[in-house]
Amino acid sequence: MQSREEKYALFEQRKKQAESGGGEERIAKYKQTGRLTARERIKIFLDPGTFNEMDRMVTHRCTNFGMEENIIPGDGVVTGYGKVDGRLVFVFAQDFTVFGGSLSRTNADKIIKVMQKALKMGAPIVGLNDSGGARIQEGVMSLAGYGDIFNLNVKASGVIPQISAIMGPCAGGAVYSPAITDFIFMVKDTSYMFVTGPDVIKTVTHEEVTKDELGGPMTHNAKSGVAHFIGNDDEHTLMMIRELLSFLPSNNLDAPPVVASVDPVDRVDEALQTLIPIDPNKPYDMHELIGSVVDDGYFFEVMPHYAKNIITGFARLGGKSVGIVANQPAHLAGVLDINSSVKAARFVRFCDAFNIPVITLVDVPGFLPGTVQEFGGIIKHGAKLLYAYAEATVPKITLITRKAYGGAYDVMASKHLSADVNYAYPSAEIAVMGPAGAVNIIFRNEADAEAIAKRVDDYRDNFANPYKAAELGYLDEIIYPRDTRKKLIAALDMTRNKRDDNPPKKHGNIPL
Ligand code: HXC
Repeated sequence: MQSREEKYALFEQRKKQAESGGGEERIAKYKQTGRLTARERIKIFLDPGTFNEMDRMVTHRCTNFGMEENIIPGDGVVTGYGKVDGRLVFVFAQDFTVFGGSLSRTNADKIIKVMQKALKMGAPIVGLNDSGGARIQEGVMSLAGYGDIFNLNVKASGVIPQISAIMGPCAGGAVYSPAITDFIFMVKDTSYMFVTGPDVIKTVTHEEVTKDELGGPMTHNAKSGVAHFIGNDDEHTLMMIRELLSFLPSNNLDAPPVVASVDPVDRVDEALQTLIPIDPNKPYDMHELIGSVVDDGYFFEVMPHYAKNIITGFARLGGKSVGIVANQPAHLAGVLDINSSVKAARFVRFCDAFNIPVITLVDVPGFLPGTVQEFGGIIKHGAKLLYAYAEATVPKITLITRKAYGGAYDVMASKHLSADVNYAYPSAEIAVMGPAGAVNIIFRNEADAEAIAKRVDDYRDNFANPYKAAELGYLDEIIYPRDTRKKLIAALDMTRNKRDDNPPKKHGNIPL
């Protein structure tokens, strides 16, 4: 019979075996790429000493290609739960040193188990992905594993926050689960995402493209819009995920956490009085307005590199999380186009799913004209934003700083899409179109340049202001810029117990 000491020694040996992943040699090679191991990542990500690992001893059951001789406890993914800022979070981290982090049936079952727990306990799930895709030796068993994960991702969507970090080369099936989750982080220089890699592309389409051009962090953050954030390295990326979680509730039935701030709720900012240029064609940086009004000037921007004509991100007002959507006059005059509409629509839907009030700052000249936009489907993509705002039942607070023209006025959380509080500055211009365009159409036959200029001036004075909308009750209040912070907080306070529902239905049919 084994002694107690022998039993404990065996336990120690089995634990060590699991912890050593693909072995010293592979770990050393892997670390040369500047990446942390799966266990190091989890340790850095969670509050110190809070990680509880599940399924450390689980092994694969594959007997093809001599795999029965190659069994590593844990099978290439570390799963479990712990705390972030004292709140429960579930996590899985793929271990690239074990069969390239590829997904076996066993590996998938471990991920599914931890996702199911997260769903049942109402806590976020964070996936640290570093994987060569389907485990080739397992064939369809691996594909089935992916399918089961995707299915659960969809069931969990809108119930618990799902966050993905891409922390290595993620190929094939390894990119589709992240794509269903709410936010994707990538790591500078070490992460890639593609459905098929450069070699396959070369064979099929004869295109030559590097891994980085095809699926590097800037490709997905600035061009494709697949990813939302870039971290400088593993550690920075993991800290960014913690930061994001600090704005989010644990699940769709919870309120977001309140973070006490010493920033006075009635703070006024005289500098805002002159932020909006008198010349309507002169840009200004909407970030300045956001930074001035939110708690401690802290704004956590989402998708900062993509469709910069619209700004999205999280901040706090009076300690409470808000989602901010703002046109950016400093980029393409803040125009709405396909990419900005889709970016903002997805953000609004996330906020609505997780009880985060939406603050909309409007300075928009309209929709971007042109064949590229029309052929690309600006009608249906613009409609996504309209749909997202109209569908959202969280508190919706809107401030028009300057332009709100045409369809874009309606779309940007107008009163007509059931916004709760609509403010405007005295500098607001709310009309069907800008003065020059309007005069051009109404007075098409007018030839005298001086007369046209006078009509443009008259139009601007009579229509390009907030007063027509205020007279109709489409604005609740015209406010001075200096008072923005306290007015937004007052509106948030007023809407705190808002109850609103959409009619019962299976689900809506957003124009995809
Ligand atoms: C099994 C794999 C693997 C895989 C890598 N490895 N990918 N083992 N299944 N999918 C193993 C390698 O054999 C190697 O083992 C170790 O992991 C490290 O791989 P390297 O190639 O040496 O690393 P690196 O040079 O960094 O390249 C990483 C990589 C490359 C770009 C991910 O390995 C690669 O292209 N892998 C295949 C990607 C792929 O085509 N996956 C299938 C996609 S199809 P040793 O023993 O040498 O250390 C798919 C379908 C799902 O996913 C669809 C669902 C919708």
